[in-house]
Amino acid sequence: MKKRLLFATGNEGKMREIRMILGNSDIEVISLKDAGIHADIVEDGTTFEENAIIKAKTVMEMTGEIVLADDSGLEIDFLDGAPGVYSARFMGTDTSYEIKNAAILEKLLHVPDEKRTARFVCAIACAMPDGRILTCRETMEGMIGYESRGENGFGYDPIFYLPGCGCYSAELSPEKKNELSHRGKALRSMRDILQGEGL
Ligand code: IMP
Repeated sequence: MKKRLLFATGNEGKMREIRMILGNSDIEVISLKDAGIHADIVEDGTTFEENAIIKAKTVMEMTGEIVLADDSGLEIDFLDGAPGVYSARFMGTDTSYEIKNAAILEKLLHVPDEKRTARFVCAIACAMPDGRILTCRETMEGMIGYESRGENGFGYDPIFYLPGCGCYSAELSPEKKNELSHRGKALRSMRDILQGEGL
């Protein structure tokens, strides 16, 4: 029988990527929606790991199953790591990313290249029914560009410049983004951790 992992996200776009990386002939990855679970979880942690653990643990306690959850965001060094864990809530959840991104470009208007460093961070937590918690964290390093560019991706991708690629994150194909991204890398790290656990 296939083993079942629950992934605590309601985002179907993410689920596709998660299934591609974590699912295999032995493991079935199920979203909360597929499992018919509704959980209103307050993400009040101060780090990405804390938030991922809060989500994974809450759903594990509700279901008794192995539960994974992620938390991600953008850290801008010149803004002391902001928006960080508040990336989704920055300037209000209803504010468009066009406006959020324009505001960030404005804040960094006269900031030179070497001070524009930034990274996307993704932490994934796995809560086991025996109470153990496994975590991993990966980043995609880059810098805040001088303009908004590209049609792919979402959120802060149009202002995130990748010097190694010579393009903005929103200009990457979905395949290339998965290869380089904080989330793609964290999912592959978690896959290795779970394999180490015999899953
Ligand atoms: P979540 O924890 O994955 O839901 O991400 C929280 C927020 O971080 C998102 O709403 C985005 O604002 C930002 N974010 C996370 N990953 C990315 C990315 O790959 N590109 C652009 N923005 C991202």
